[in-house]
Amino acid sequence: MLDIVQYPAEVLRRPAEPVTEITGEIAALARSMIETMYAAPGVGLAAPQVNQSLRMFVMDPGGEEDKRQPAVVINPRIIESVGEATSEEGCLSIPGYYAEVPRAKTIHVQFLDAHGNPVERTLSDFPAFVFQHEFDHLDGILFVDYLSRTRHRLFERDYGRDPWRWKFRSRR
Ligand code: NI
Repeated sequence: MLDIVQYPAEVLRRPAEPVTEITGEIAALARSMIETMYAAPGVGLAAPQVNQSLRMFVMDPGGEEDKRQPAVVINPRIIESVGEATSEEGCLSIPGYYAEVPRAKTIHVQFLDAHGNPVERTLSDFPAFVFQHEFDHLDGILFVDYLSRTRHRLFERDYGRDPWRWKFRSRR
């Protein structure tokens, strides 16, 4: 199991480096990230969140234990974004804090899977929101960056002051 880096760690703000070769180490990292994501529990986890500044993440927006379908996403690109939607999000690196953020409703994406095979997909709604959230992590962007200036200021003040209060707050 891997430790999940918590806000405001610097690695969460650093643009990640492309994966140049899918080695055994990368495959092992992907497996550990999947285990860590399910244990958290979460629906996505990006490499910078486990202190690896690499352009890869894992996701499973289905999230049901009996039909897990984890995807390993390496060097992703969002080719096209269509439509607008609002997504209520949280982040394993900002436990206990949730907010509605704007996302594209549908995205067309390309990436490499855990075996280095090129994959092309069109995602809509929740899977698309998860993909966009994790993709942002690779560029050092967090979902709280989409808050209004005022709400972002309140977030920084309140969350920074007492993260434990948020961590154990119920969702609503
Ligand atoms: Ni996140």
